[in-house]
Amino acid sequence: MNAMRDPAGIPAPPFVFQALMVITWAFHIAFVHLSMGAAGLAIYAFHSRSRGAHWTRLSMAMTKVAKVGVSLLIVLGVAPLLFTQVIYDPQWYTSNVLSGRWALAFIFTLLVAYCSWYVFYASNHEHAKRRAGCYAWIALLLFCVDGLIMHALSYQALLPEKWMNWYAPGGVVDTRGAALHAIEWARYVLIMGLSVPAIGVFLIAYAHYFSVRGDRDVRYLAFARELGRQIAQWGFLFSIVPMLAWQFDLPPASGLELLPLGWSIVGALAIMGAWMRLPGSSVQGYLPMTANFGIVSLLAVWREVIRMRYLKPLGYDIHSYTVHPDAPSMLLFFLTLAGIGGVVGGLYLTLLYRSGRVAGRYTAEPLVRYLARGALSVLGVWITAFLAYGVVISLRDSFN
Ligand code: HEM
Repeated sequence: MNAMRDPAGIPAPPFVFQALMVITWAFHIAFVHLSMGAAGLAIYAFHSRSRGAHWTRLSMAMTKVAKVGVSLLIVLGVAPLLFTQVIYDPQWYTSNVLSGRWALAFIFTLLVAYCSWYVFYASNHEHAKRRAGCYAWIALLLFCVDGLIMHALSYQALLPEKWMNWYAPGGVVDTRGAALHAIEWARYVLIMGLSVPAIGVFLIAYAHYFSVRGDRDVRYLAFARELGRQIAQWGFLFSIVPMLAWQFDLPPASGLELLPLGWSIVGALAIMGAWMRLPGSSVQGYLPMTANFGIVSLLAVWREVIRMRYLKPLGYDIHSYTVHPDAPSMLLFFLTLAGIGGVVGGLYLTLLYRSGRVAGRYTAEPLVRYLARGALSVLGVWITAFLAYGVVISLRDSFN
């Protein structure tokens, strides 16, 4: 594995990329949860339209949430993908090559799935025909297949001692990459299943968000909040089952099952489930959704602890990665993150948040106008610095 590392080394200490990988993955999976949960609920509500107008409305709203959510989960998947490739390149590439056809199929199935979801989105209105639901089912099924591919690629990367056997079973080289060689069902079901409580806490936040808008039906919002509470309650409690199954499936020699972190996730799920059972008025606002993100963050760290424990006895430790410090590029990276991510991203988020809470036309408040001016300036500086940096380096290299 160490021989397969990038000989160019990395530009900053490995823990920097490790931390960025864990943090960005938490955001990726949070949007996986939101989108899969919204898609599942949109389909369920679609088939429940005969139970009243609230269900029709909910189905249309959740279809939109999933539509936007998938685009964000894809974008937010890129960051951990890049960071994984920086410090775990031997494992990630080997795993991808060993299941090459699936790695490619991932892209095409995601394309088909997302297009199908759009067809459903376009046809899901008050008088939609029942068969429109077929597109939604196809999309959700393929999204789940994509999650399974992502899982197998992540999990195979933890099992280097099996790679030779997958590459050349019985001594005969098999270059087809036609199989998903290893699946840990408990881990997959847990991570995907957390979509259920996630959509529950999202509904609670959704009802709170629109509660200030006079043009929104109060009964519909109360319906959404109560439904969210029920879904979250059962979602958290049922998630304990695959979480425990995963805990007991961890290799005994790794000592992982003795670490408090994994058990703290079990505890957190139980606490969240119990909290959601409290009377309606004690469960509202954005707090349940924020607390849920806490569980997702614990999960992100736990995955990384597991990876380190699997790989260390086999002689792989990211801390021994060759580092060739490159301060200017790291500075550019972090300034971009703070400037573009913080100010430009902050503008979009604030603008969307504020404008959605106003019925009719929205006039930007001073804060939003101030942020907009800041975002424009940051973009100007960023484009100039980025180009200037590139031009200077190119010129310097061509004269050396
Ligand atoms: C519907 C589409 C997707 C679903 C359902 C999905 C789901 C998942 C799941 C369940 C995991 C965790 C696997 C595990 O730890 O066992 C995961 C990990 C990951 N996903 Fe996604 N994902 C999707 C799309 C994407 C896309 C488009 C990208 C990249 C552009 C991406 C990048 C990643 C990365 C980098 C990891 C972590 C790999 C690692 O740590 O080794 N995902 N995803």
